[in-house]
Amino acid sequence: MISPEGLKEIDLAVAKYPAGHQQSAVIAALAIAQRERGWLLPELMQFVADYLKIPAIAVQEVATFYNMYETKSVGKYKITLCTNLPCELGGAEEIAEYLKQKLGIDFGETTPDGKFTLKEGECFGACGDAPVVLLNNHRMCSFMSREKIDQLLEELSK
Ligand code: FES
Repeated sequence: MISPEGLKEIDLAVAKYPAGHQQSAVIAALAIAQRERGWLLPELMQFVADYLKIPAIAVQEVATFYNMYETKSVGKYKITLCTNLPCELGGAEEIAEYLKQKLGIDFGETTPDGKFTLKEGECFGACGDAPVVLLNNHRMCSFMSREKIDQLLEELSK
């Protein structure tokens, strides 16, 4: 379910903790699993639990607590727009409307072709760059404007 390279990364995360505390690596393991598979399908969460030799519930608790984890299928590109106060003051509401209009979907939805999922996010700690979009949990896009949304969607559509 996870590539040999991914398993090596999980092993490295486990090695950061004392023997018997492999549960501490569950956040890293889930991030690696999601990066490889796109979302945390139940069998993948079970695989992570078995690999770390921890109860499945310990994995599910983490996967359902943090909003960077997806426990339902998402599109190839997950666009998360921060809608906390500094980003709102910086124009996130207008960007939200523009994204919804361009993609033809609302927050929490995926385009019919499975390419884009639009999500509402909490502060990414980059408030000075407002409004901020996070792409697939890894790439931060700052000072978003209609023009920059157009550029981003064009780049992702190639
Ligand atoms: S409020 Fe949007 S990044 Fe902090």
